[in-house]
Amino acid sequence: MPKRNALYAQSGGVTSVINASACGVIETARQHRDRIGKVYAGDNGIVGVLTEDLIDTSRESARTIAGLRHTPGGAFGSARYKLKSLEENRTEYERIIEVCKAHNIGYFFYNGGGDSMDTAHKLSRIGKRLGYPITCIGVPKTVDNDLPITDTCPGFGSVAKYIAISTQEAAKDVISMAETSTKVFILEVMGRHAGWIAAAGGLAGSRPEDAPHIILFPEIPFNRQRFLARVRCCVKDYGYCVVVVSEGARYRNGQFLADTGLVDAFGHKQLGGAATVIANMVRDKLGFKFHYAIADYLQRAARHLASATDVRQAYAVGKAAVELALAGKNAVMPVIVRTSDRPYKWSIGSTSLGRVANREKMMPRRYITKDGFGITAAGRRYLEPLIQGEDYPPYRNGLPDYVTLKRVMVRKKLKTKFVLS
Ligand code: F6P
Repeated sequence: MPKRNALYAQSGGVTSVINASACGVIETARQHRDRIGKVYAGDNGIVGVLTEDLIDTSRESARTIAGLRHTPGGAFGSARYKLKSLEENRTEYERIIEVCKAHNIGYFFYNGGGDSMDTAHKLSRIGKRLGYPITCIGVPKTVDNDLPITDTCPGFGSVAKYIAISTQEAAKDVISMAETSTKVFILEVMGRHAGWIAAAGGLAGSRPEDAPHIILFPEIPFNRQRFLARVRCCVKDYGYCVVVVSEGARYRNGQFLADTGLVDAFGHKQLGGAATVIANMVRDKLGFKFHYAIADYLQRAARHLASATDVRQAYAVGKAAVELALAGKNAVMPVIVRTSDRPYKWSIGSTSLGRVANREKMMPRRYITKDGFGITAAGRRYLEPLIQGEDYPPYRNGLPDYVTLKRVMVRKKLKTKFVLS
């Protein structure tokens, strides 16, 4: 079979370990030079593919590619860009095929969440129909941990570790101040629809008096009276109260506490501000002094606190994606299979893209305590292994020594320019 090039693209919100997956893809492809030519990367994900802006990763040294393993953010740029549906307009998919054809690309590795798996799935079908089949393999990624089938999603374990540690450390601060000053600390965490990240805050303590005293999950409708009563109770019993609130926390009618009124390309509501909303309730109704923090990008960029388990899994799914392609598989995604909780053991399996596309995995009710404010022993058993181990980046002059790519662009071959709509 003639040797074909590969295309790699990052998609959606980035994580502190998405580049470890890129490293897994590129290093593994380099080990199979007899079968895979160059690895090109979409500059800003699928947007760069459409506009034929491709980065030639073969121009990066082995040392730089290895450095991706410990570098956060999306080294090639990511995108939240929704392709038009096939029924609505085929031109975008056709354009991707045209770009692939022009650059002899036969493999597409798409590193993203549920929406991206849908895109990769469609591309594998339309390529065949247009007479230019492309092997499309998904590489799972999302801090929200909401992809189905896989036991966990690379990116999540590191956010979970960051949130558990931040909750633990902030609690030490509040408890020192509580007697005469701050009584309530609120930490807002990501997780648009699923409460996995908020749940990870629960790992900070194990006894009722330990922080966090309250976790607000998107899966449990928010009730103002019950929440305020619990805050009052914690301050009375323990002297202080630590709350972890998911950005996706919502009222019974489905309205987010933190709806900013803005939506992204996928129609997802932009969230942020749940902590402010509940902090104001605490002040107005209970009169307690509070502090709050919105972890925002800090949580998904915090490579210095990454979970070693997560880094290993992120690399493993990148490597497995290339191996699946070489084994002749198409329209599949490597998944993490948990084979034992204690000791934690996992292996890599695979599933079809059709089974993961556009589906979200919520926290099961059995991981949330009856009162809806904490995690159960089963939830802890699931979460704990994912934050195990430290994988510090190298440091220089007191700062992590992260890599920056040269980003040498591939010469364009197509005459037509593509205008994004
Ligand atoms: O990718 C998931 C996520 O991290 C969500 O938890 C969060 O709401 C969203 O991305 C933020 O995305 P953006 O960076 O596009 O605003």
